[in-house]
Amino acid sequence: MKEFDREGLIAQAQAARGRAYAPYSGYTVGAALLGKSGRVYTGCNVENAVYPLGICAERVAVVKAVSEGEREFVALAVVTKSGAAPCGACRQTLREFGGEIVILIADATGDYRETTLAELLPDGFSAADLEEHGPQDK
Ligand code: THU
Repeated sequence: MKEFDREGLIAQAQAARGRAYAPYSGYTVGAALLGKSGRVYTGCNVENAVYPLGICAERVAVVKAVSEGEREFVALAVVTKSGAAPCGACRQTLREFGGEIVILIADATGDYRETTLAELLPDGFSAADLEEHGPQDK
């Protein structure tokens, strides 16, 4: 597995979790996304009184990174109270930028497990699929 400071990335995700805006669910999530440049982009969940407009911590981190010009990633750390895995929407959003991203799933005590996006989202849809001609095009 790739070399980087796993505990440091989790600590940044935990700090971001402290900035979560989650008055409706009360469930706070923090993320830290390590770009290939070495920069880290943090995210927290940001909820809204119009409930469906809330956004997950992981996707906040991705949009921050891409909007700053970074599109290639080494790892994502996500921290929740209980060590929950990223939701399906976040997995697909990350998949856009490659399947080999290391995912660190941590709980509030800092305990974590390590996996990859390819393991969390096997056989995911990607840009390459748009270029192939499926049955509907025949
Ligand atoms: N949430 C995330 O930020 N990331 C996930 O992967 C799952 C859920 C947020 C969305 C909402 O603000 C709260 O957690 C409860 O679902």
